[in-house]
Amino acid sequence: MDRNLVLNLVRVTEAAALGAAKLLGRGDKNMADQLAVDGMRNMFDTLDIDGTVVIGEGELDEAPMLYIGEKIGKDLSGSIKVDIAVDPVEGTTAVAKGLPNAIAVVAIAPQGHLLNAPDMYMDKIAVGPRAKGVINLDAPVKVNLMNVAKALNKDITDLTVTMLDRERHAEIIKECREAGTRIKLFSDGDVGAALATCFEHTGTDILFGIGGAPEGVITAAAIKCLGGDFQGRLIPSDEEEKERCNRMGVDFKKLFTLDDLVKGNEVFFAATGISDGDLLKGVTYHEGNKAKTHSVIMRGETGTIRFIESIHRLDKKPEYAR
Ligand code: FBP
Repeated sequence: MDRNLVLNLVRVTEAAALGAAKLLGRGDKNMADQLAVDGMRNMFDTLDIDGTVVIGEGELDEAPMLYIGEKIGKDLSGSIKVDIAVDPVEGTTAVAKGLPNAIAVVAIAPQGHLLNAPDMYMDKIAVGPRAKGVINLDAPVKVNLMNVAKALNKDITDLTVTMLDRERHAEIIKECREAGTRIKLFSDGDVGAALATCFEHTGTDILFGIGGAPEGVITAAAIKCLGGDFQGRLIPSDEEEKERCNRMGVDFKKLFTLDDLVKGNEVFFAATGISDGDLLKGVTYHEGNKAKTHSVIMRGETGTIRFIESIHRLDKKPEYAR
């Protein structure tokens, strides 16, 4: 894939973030998502790719835009064929309530390189580069904590574990408390939280817990670029979901490694903050009808990570004006 594509991807996530940010805390997650989808979809049309959405807003009957299977790109003939994973608003409830951690995200890889994960839950574990190779989703929580602490050269009680604040995580929380680790719960947005484990300044060492499977693939794309580690396993909640896995040819019993979720190193990732998170600040609005966005873009082959702060003149982009 042309390396310049990753630079253009930031326009895609910025457009989504600027769309959704207008509705921060306004209690309307559907409208926030809609504005983000519109912004993202329009910007995608400017890219020279022959893309297919493999992780998107749902099936065609559920989503008019960015649905799974939708063709994306400016010139479909002769351009590189890519898989596209999108989440125009990762953290819709967070946007509706004005809570932290909402981001707009996109990952792109050559055709067939991203796992087509069904929309169901996934059990996850994520760590940064220094703990790569020491995690095992099938091992007890305590064992993972001991191995990560050793890899990070820290006492186990100095580890900070993060996970979604959900009843289903009561047992993991109990085991972390027994081991003496610090715990940071968050209300939504496990992609951003998993990425935080790859940046020392965030102070977060390991992410555990169950979240969305599509978000798991997007997380894996970013973690691959960052040199960290991630494992996941699908959790179908009933026979219907197991059947869906079978239809899609995805093994729900399999422990998916980073390489199973994202093949090879040729992967691009972009994210823009909608509301403030550990890694990215949310969209802010300024005098003179301006908005500021904070984004990160990454490329798997070189591992280059770029943080981009952009100032948008909303008088020249009326579609994003408040
Ligand atoms: P949405 O933006 O689709 O609402 O996802 C937000 C999120 O918090 C994800 O980050 C996470 O993977 C998933 O929801 C967890 O699902 P649930 O809210 O059902 O526990």
